[in-house]
Amino acid sequence: MEIKAVGVLGAGTMGHGIAHVLLRGGCRVFLYDLSPRFLEAGAGRIAKGLARDVEKERLSAAESEQALKRLKATARVEDLGGADFIVEAVTEDFEVKAGAFRAIEPHCAPQTIFASNTSSISITRLAAATRHPDRFVGLHFFNPVPVMKLVEVVPGLDTSRETIEAAERLVASAGKTPVRVNDSPGFVSNRVLMPMINEAVFCLMEGVADAKGIDDVMKLGMNHPMGPLELADLIGLDVCLDIMTVLY
Ligand code: CAA
Repeated sequence: MEIKAVGVLGAGTMGHGIAHVLLRGGCRVFLYDLSPRFLEAGAGRIAKGLARDVEKERLSAAESEQALKRLKATARVEDLGGADFIVEAVTEDFEVKAGAFRAIEPHCAPQTIFASNTSSISITRLAAATRHPDRFVGLHFFNPVPVMKLVEVVPGLDTSRETIEAAERLVASAGKTPVRVNDSPGFVSNRVLMPMINEAVFCLMEGVADAKGIDDVMKLGMNHPMGPLELADLIGLDVCLDIMTVLY
């Protein structure tokens, strides 16, 4: 199936970034959030990002203008009925995510594919909260979304081959590289990343070095672009805790 219109649930850090790259790739995007303040801020950040793309010659002025016209920021769940594909990027909490899918499902066509941008929650479990687990897949983007190339594509137990392939095509159209990963807690990314961040926090707690020292060791010694403590702040300490709780 060809995906022309995508609904993005949640206009926060990840949601607005996902909407930005999908618009850049040529999709129509319905950016949905319950909070008018988040919607306005998300749409503003997308407009700013597209203007930056023109400045850096990643898009022409006309392409950027067209991309912005393809964006509809909405708090009306009915508007999501026009989407072929939904990407959920709400709070990292099973009940909140499952509740969001249950709320939108009656408004979506039965062939609509659902994806979750969860960082760690089981895709099979989330899919089971919906009516069509065969059309449910994990799509794990990275922050800052316009910059990071990877998307982990995570099939659940019931995800169909067609769903995985459609998701991978969408990811590629947004200029990202899909990597298929099995449905295991934290997938690959956070299973490896979060224990490192946790150890960095322990180093700080035990006084092995100060925060700058810990970050400098990993930047200068391991060539990481950011130290683990700085990265934890970028991700959000609340999100890190949610993910580590799932791993635990
Ligand atoms: N939001 C949006 N764009 C940002 C940004 C942010 N927070 N920070 C930097 N950028 C953009 C800049 O605007 C710049 O874009 P332009 O091409 O338009 O100029 C580009 O990134 C490069 O920025 P800089 O040259 O200023 O800085 P840099 O070279 O130091 O790179 C960085 C900044 C890309 C954030 C780099 O430090 C980096 O790669 N850090 C690691 C990020 C990372 O590991 N992310 C994954 C986190 S894990 C996750 O998201 C998933 C999860 O489940 C927890």
